[in-house]
Amino acid sequence: MVAPTLINQSEMESLMSLLDAAKRARENAHAPYSNFKVGAAVKTASGEIFAGCNVENVAYPEGTCAEAGAIAAMVMAGQREITEALVIADAPLPVTPCGGCRQKLREFCGPETRVTMLTTGGAEQVMTMAELLPGAFTNAHLENT
Ligand code: THU
Repeated sequence: MVAPTLINQSEMESLMSLLDAAKRARENAHAPYSNFKVGAAVKTASGEIFAGCNVENVAYPEGTCAEAGAIAAMVMAGQREITEALVIADAPLPVTPCGGCRQKLREFCGPETRVTMLTTGGAEQVMTMAELLPGAFTNAHLENT
């Protein structure tokens, strides 16, 4: 179990903006196969917020996660540094990013970047990127190339 982190007023406001963006993105999720709609939002170093939803496909493996959509929107806007991320879904427990999305997030997050995971019912779990993906494969591994 991860100890809760105290956050100040401006961090709370930032979290609320992320939540709002992720909830709105989630409403547009295309999830006819799983019926599991996910919304994700990332905040960048410039303070901008980018959101995404899961987009499923009749060829199931071709579906993409909400986090991937948010990251694609961020990159398309020329941003590269995530300072905070949030994921929300209607689930019995806070939805943690899948393994692939942990690696995708880690590309643009530092180890201490906070990831907030929520249910639509109000359950919450907060973890750092390093807690979500310990021993991540990073640029440091490519230094001999
Ligand atoms: N999904 C996400 O979009 N993000 C996650 O963090 C977990 C899973 C999606 C993929 C699929 O469309 C649906 O949730 C069920 O797995």
